[in-house]
Amino acid sequence: MRVLFATSEVFPLIKTGGLADVSGSLPTALQNLGVDIRILMPGYPAVLNKLTNLQAIATFDNLPVIHNAALMMGTIAETQVKVMVIKSAHLYEREGGPYADANGLEWLDNPVRFGILSKVAAILSGPNSPITDWQPDIVHCNDWQTGLTPAYMKLVEHSQAKSIISLHNMAFQGCYAPGWLSTLALPSTNFTIEGFEYHGQLSFLKAGIFYANAVTTVSPSYAKEIQTAAFGFGLEGLLSKRGNEIKGILNGIETDEWNPEADPHLVKNYSATTLAGKKLVKAALQEKLGLHIDASAPLLGVVSRLTHQKGLDMLVPILQKLVDAGCQLALLGSGESALENAFRTLAVSNPTKVNVTIGYNEPLSHQIMAGCDMFIMPSRFEPCGLNQLYGLAYGTPPIVNATGGLADSVVDTNIITFKNKTANGFVMSEASPTSLLSCIKQALNVFNNDANAWKQIQKNGMTQNLSWDKSALEYLAVYQTLNKSA
Ligand code: ADP
Ligand code: GLC
Repeated sequence: MRVLFATSEVFPLIKTGGLADVSGSLPTALQNLGVDIRILMPGYPAVLNKLTNLQAIATFDNLPVIHNAALMMGTIAETQVKVMVIKSAHLYEREGGPYADANGLEWLDNPVRFGILSKVAAILSGPNSPITDWQPDIVHCNDWQTGLTPAYMKLVEHSQAKSIISLHNMAFQGCYAPGWLSTLALPSTNFTIEGFEYHGQLSFLKAGIFYANAVTTVSPSYAKEIQTAAFGFGLEGLLSKRGNEIKGILNGIETDEWNPEADPHLVKNYSATTLAGKKLVKAALQEKLGLHIDASAPLLGVVSRLTHQKGLDMLVPILQKLVDAGCQLALLGSGESALENAFRTLAVSNPTKVNVTIGYNEPLSHQIMAGCDMFIMPSRFEPCGLNQLYGLAYGTPPIVNATGGLADSVVDTNIITFKNKTANGFVMSEASPTSLLSCIKQALNVFNNDANAWKQIQKNGMTQNLSWDKSALEYLAVYQTLNKSA
């Protein structure tokens, strides 16, 4: 089975969020199952620098807008997964992130940057591919950035391969003015409700959902939620037409990268049977961040994009109460400036209790995950979420809202779940500051008063199998079903 995995970010090459984690680890797990998989992504400078054995393997000379581009292939040293990159200095080699410049402003030519990514994926799967010795059976697309691929495959390239799109977040759809249609050489006859038109705009994500042979998303709960108006971001009608076909497959974690027993970013490694080591990591984190070094002070952790989705605005009005009750907070993240400022202000007024790092910092994210006692993730919606899974693996019970992948991976602590040893965190009853406060108080009650019970909750999470083993098999089953279909 040959699979082309098209994506816009891949850890450890380039990362803005969970999509990179998934695009780094799922192809590795599939490769270990015997799938002949290649990633396709844009040739951002970091990607060109980090791949090993990078070589030009083909050229395209008939692309929209840029006409020519080279295709290069290299491998990710850590996993030996092959990555094909589109080399176009004009489109991808610039300072800034994959989607926006250093000030957070989206690149104005994103429709071309990701239109070309989508188009190249489609060409590689069809009769006009410049690569003759490797044709995929399956093209696996991810999010809006590769949403046009299934449309190009079906309408333009007449590809025989099957397409699948995985939805990682319905909040981002890639909707652009209709003028882009001709620029991207898409057939205008399909600019209708039964095609890629969405409220008068060209929608990359709708194109993917409409034309893909299979649609998956990253948790079973989110698969149901996105068929409702509250979570479908306007595409719930189209999604509910595909109904039961939409499969929710919970993300796994890369256990080589996120494992407290072998994490190089920690002063001391630990496991479910050597939890004492976690205390040293906590003390080191408190010291590093200028927090009062106190083993008994409950240390709350946050690593997150600071956006409406993540619900951290609910933590702002209750944080002082928690600090007054003895808690500390270590927060790492960036996003909406009002929220960044609100947390900065709380840090200034509580210098030894609240530490706020605005920015992106890979080592610190591991240290917070390991050094904190609880991980706070009150998301309003969460397609899967990886941080709560990292919290489980690191003995840092997550405190979450009951939505999407959070609901599918965190088991609230109560008498029954504690007895049957499934309790691994704390789940809010609704998305509100009051509910978050009462949920954290329940966790504090156990943490402060019953060390053995707390240890049991930590161990329940740490001994779960959170790896890709099971989920990669589910993707393989989807590929196999598609391969057999007409
Ligand atoms: P999302 O992709 O919606 O942001 P996920 O929980 O799926 O949420 O994944 C987020 C990923 O990005 C995790 O690997 C997390 O550790 C990482 N991350 C988020 N913010 C930061 C940050 N400021 N510094 C380092 N890593 C971060
Ligand atoms: C998106 C979602 C997140 C998910 C990630 C990877 O960024 O917001 O919930 O874990 O994709 O699938």
